[in-house]
Amino acid sequence: MQNPFKFLQPLRFLKQTITPSYLGVDIGTTSVKVVEVKQGERLPQILNYAILESRSSLLRVNTALQTSALKLFEREIIDLLKATIAHMKPQTREAVASFPIFSAFTTILTFPEMSKSDLEKSIAFQAKQYIPVPISEVAIDWMKVGEYRDEKGFNYQQIFLISVPREQIARYQRIFREAGMNLGTLEIENLSLTRALVGADQTPTFIIDIGSRSTVVVIADKGTVHFSGQSDFAGASLTQALSSSLNINPLRAEELKKERGIIGTGPNYELSTIMLPFVDGIINEVKRVQFNYKSQVPGAREIERAILSGGGANLLGIEKYVQQRLGIPTVKAAPLLRFEYPPGIEPLAGELNPLLSVALGLTLREFS
Ligand SMILES: Nc1ncnc2c1ncn2[C@@H]1O[C@H](COP(=O)(O)OP(=O)(O)OP(=O)(O)O)[C@@H](O)[C@H]1O
Ligand SMILES: [Mg+2]
Repeated sequence: MQNPFKFLQPLRFLKQTITPSYLGVDIGTTSVKVVEVKQGERLPQILNYAILESRSSLLRVNTALQTSALKLFEREIIDLLKATIAHMKPQTREAVASFPIFSAFTTILTFPEMSKSDLEKSIAFQAKQYIPVPISEVAIDWMKVGEYRDEKGFNYQQIFLISVPREQIARYQRIFREAGMNLGTLEIENLSLTRALVGADQTPTFIIDIGSRSTVVVIADKGTVHFSGQSDFAGASLTQALSSSLNINPLRAEELKKERGIIGTGPNYELSTIMLPFVDGIINEVKRVQFNYKSQVPGAREIERAILSGGGANLLGIEKYVQQRLGIPTVKAAPLLRFEYPPGIEPLAGELNPLLSVALGLTLREFS
């Protein structure tokens, strides 16, 4: 008689291959965040996560993992990634990663209605006029984000164009190879943010991701990225302001910021007044992005809400303040809603939500 258990092993193997896991890797300016996700019963399931901060970046205020002088600190990123993997012991080495928005060039182009193949040719031609470096040095991607009809009844389509220096892509491939991972996909972080925080929701939305060295502002409408901008006012600006105004070291300033936030009453009043001008700097950038969007994109809809992401979204009191200043409902990011996760994460969910937006959004690419 045949052994009835003969097929168990191959079946288990099959199950593993049809539910593979992926690593979403977000390399920020001062931290590396990795999540491991596989398909769960109802939703994608988070198996594990890790956040590694480069503490040195706080002390050396002029350094960051990602800088415009991109050749720097490759070694530090590789070491952080290796440490993260050693700590997480993931079941996979397949990674999906994001580019910071400042290393990409994006714009919205408008074309009359035409066939897909004509559109591709026109985009390639137009891209040359808009992209500030030789076209042979960049990789180009684009997506249709909208359409409208002008007063004469002609139809137009709006194309979101993304270009990234090839040198940058090669650099990421090198970093991941050396860290022992297989880099399957790279995308700019505003796409990951939109997938994680907006999904299929049709509401015109600001996503404001307040990181350490930069704030990314994305306008998403009908579930896709329509526009974006960036500001250098971010979490580190608040820490530096506290450190220099109160004459305390940056590590202490960082603690104070996290402890007290911008609630602004009683003993916290002074701290708030030191930090608020920098939060206003972020809000002014959001307004500038809104102004550019309205003036550059025909048919731009009014933005109806804001979602705060990045570590800066954990600043106490920031939702209320931004809501007042922008005059639209403002909430903290909650990407974990789209996932199943171990119960141990629940107590930390409030704080983790905005920190993991990009990394989680990256993995959702593989599960839609
Ligand atoms: N509870 C908190 N209150 C205030 N700020 C916080 C809190 N937690 C984290 N931050 C700030 O968030 C910032 C880090 O955010 P995040 O991890 O999103 O940055 P990053 O992704 O490394 O950087 P970037 O997006 O600029 O590349 C730091 O400036 C940190 O001080
Ligand atoms: Mg970030």
